Amino acid sequence: MQVTPSGQGLGARVEGFDVSKPLSHEDYKKIESLLGQYGVLCFSKQNLTGAQLKDFSSKFGTLEVNVANMYQEPGHPEVMILSNKKVDGKPIGLGDAGQDWHTDMSYSKMIAFTNVLYGIEIPHRNGQPLGSTEFSNMRAAYLALPEELKKKLDGMTVLHDFNKFWENMRKQPGCTRPPLTEAQRKAKPPVSHPIFLTHPITGDKILYANPGYSIQINELPQKESDEILNFLFAHQLQPQFRYQHRWTAGDVLMWDNMGTIHNAVADYGPDEHRFIKRCQVMADRYFPLAA
Ligand code: SIN
Repeated sequence: MQVTPSGQGLGARVEGFDVSKPLSHEDYKKIESLLGQYGVLCFSKQNLTGAQLKDFSSKFGTLEVNVANMYQEPGHPEVMILSNKKVDGKPIGLGDAGQDWHTDMSYSKMIAFTNVLYGIEIPHRNGQPLGSTEFSNMRAAYLALPEELKKKLDGMTVLHDFNKFWENMRKQPGCTRPPLTEAQRKAKPPVSHPIFLTHPITGDKILYANPGYSIQINELPQKESDEILNFLFAHQLQPQFRYQHRWTAGDVLMWDNMGTIHNAVADYGPDEHRFIKRCQVMADRYFPLAA
């Protein structure tokens, strides 16, 4: 593998590796360590079936089947289709996935380790790719917090709610997401996690709160919790922590959900097609007791 760092707040390009081939233990360990170091990895020029994407992803932990139970690859419910394309007037994928800053599955008792996305169609305008995925580095965000705030928040926990993101998306013009059903809400009740996690690969402290799902610092009164969360949401998006991935068809993009937050940029129109397959991998290898 040849690794080229992005030179930004995180991210690296990995060449000389075929994601469709069976993964050796040595390569698994190498990729795990690169994820800890760079947060986001792009394996370019890949050619994969949905089953091969699933096989590769499943080596890193248990795969999540999305709570919405929609837009799955036939025969492989762990592979979700993210797309704005329609066939016979019907959407074939989730068209607005991840379009705000968040960490996948922070709303779940078992949090997510990594997402693996395979870009098949990328929209372009005037020769430039659209629909980037942006990232921010939560190790750097933790390190840059005022010492006094680090001390104050140490040992505290944050409540994360799947419904916060879902309802925010429903407010966007043209959104077709129905409200979550009672059964879907029961399947994903709000959960709490430490506000600072120790990263299981690097041992570094990271800020584990995000605008998409975090609703309350449990140990603080509502008003103070709101003020501090709003401060953290602004703090964690400073430009020096960031990396923007501009997609090329054939990219497999893999990121560490624990040490980063991300945002899918919605800068393309309904006729500018984006088609991506996604697997979400839980962190059960690192936190078996939470399973
Ligand atoms: C996601 O949040 O997993 C989707 C990201 C993207 O489509 O760029």
